[in-house]
Amino acid sequence: MFISKALKINQNNNLEIGGCDCVELANTYGTPLYVMDENLLRENCRIYKNAMDKYYDGNGLVLYASKALCTKAICKIAQQEGLGLDVVSGGELYTALEAGFPMDRVYFHGNNKTYDELKLAIDNDIGRIVVDNREELLTINQIASKKNKKLNISFRIKPGIDAHTHDFIRTGQIDSKFGVAIENGEALEIISEASKLSNVKVVALHCHIGSQIFDLDPFKLAAKVMLEFAAELKEKLDIQIEELNLGGGFGIKYTQEDDPIEYDNFIESVSKVVKSVCSEKGIKLPFIIMEPGRSIAAPAGITLYKVGSVKDIKNVRKYIAVDGGMTDNPRYAMYQSKYEAVIADKPDAPKTQKVTIAGKCCESGDLLAKDIMLPSVEVGDILAMFATGAYNYSMSSNYNRIPRPAIVLVKDGQARTIVKREDYKDIVRNDIIPEDL
Ligand code: LLP
Repeated sequence: MFISKALKINQNNNLEIGGCDCVELANTYGTPLYVMDENLLRENCRIYKNAMDKYYDGNGLVLYASKALCTKAICKIAQQEGLGLDVVSGGELYTALEAGFPMDRVYFHGNNKTYDELKLAIDNDIGRIVVDNREELLTINQIASKKNKKLNISFRIKPGIDAHTHDFIRTGQIDSKFGVAIENGEALEIISEASKLSNVKVVALHCHIGSQIFDLDPFKLAAKVMLEFAAELKEKLDIQIEELNLGGGFGIKYTQEDDPIEYDNFIESVSKVVKSVCSEKGIKLPFIIMEPGRSIAAPAGITLYKVGSVKDIKNVRKYIAVDGGMTDNPRYAMYQSKYEAVIADKPDAPKTQKVTIAGKCCESGDLLAKDIMLPSVEVGDILAMFATGAYNYSMSSNYNRIPRPAIVLVKDGQARTIVKREDYKDIVRNDIIPEDL
């Protein structure tokens, strides 16, 4: 009945996640509270890993895209489940280092990595840097030469497929800040330049075609386009591409209307295309990488809020105000994202009214969900919002100097804090009043 299999109704008729009663969690840890179901997180990692083993003979690696939710404990879980890690900043890389994540399984993305970030990556023998642009290529070569290293590198390629919408298109993607395009010769040119540098070796290609995608076809097409480009590199530059990274972006169920594809189908379909294009073109089967983020973390997470006021503006709208908002989940404010929610002590009560969930920020656009159906709601109720495990905490802020919530990891009836709740001291931690002020 719920969109996530992490959720149940317990014998007290309350919402339960990971064997923990959501009302009790809210009372014990306070609200707002992010709650992550450990078993479901691990199961989601395993679906991808098993699919890679089953459909591609294990000749690949699944990276957890840590931008979805990056904390030391989450990195540790990804590591224990045999995944690699996609990081996109020095901060995510540092988190992985602190978590003791094996650096050879860490891949570094990003369209404007700084010198210090690249140095941190190279000093720590990161698995792969995915080069975005010419300046970065030259900086990497320079850092590697100082260290007498020859680095295997990958390139971020725009394959000319835009899958951000339900209908994917094959044009327009050239206008993206990420990577280099195939269609205007940019990609061939930069890889040719890289092949003349002494301290880097091009061994891999990467693309990422969008996020929250519900269709297999754009992934299949991306695999084909990328392999054709790999064949062109072999023919024109005698460069052997050994590794193909097809990114992440697999859609999840935020509401009952969403109809995602089983996650392992992505790996199955892509594997088939890769095998057939390689045999057709007579090229070596590459090591394959996929980078799911949202589909691993989002379904495993919920957020618990306390209702602080109910404002019924007759014939206009009914606002339910909660003690969080765009500071812990900016996704409605940014993308008008849709969510489902229930009241934690009556999760199966008939949803009889249309309400809008408002946050507590000084901002009219600070909503968490607009016009969603809920049962009657009273001040003090605990509202549980579903599928908030990805791109919530990782995109949170301290706007209005609101401290960030804690994250608890739940499993078999036990809850453990993996990120502490911020307090007001954290809020002013970096403030300085200069002595002469
Ligand atoms: N790999 C690369 C290179 C990416 O850029 C991304 C996401 C992923 C993998 C993981 O994609 P996923 O499987 O999580 O869809 N803040 C937005 C999402 C931005 C995604 C950016 N890149 C949101 O809240 O929807």
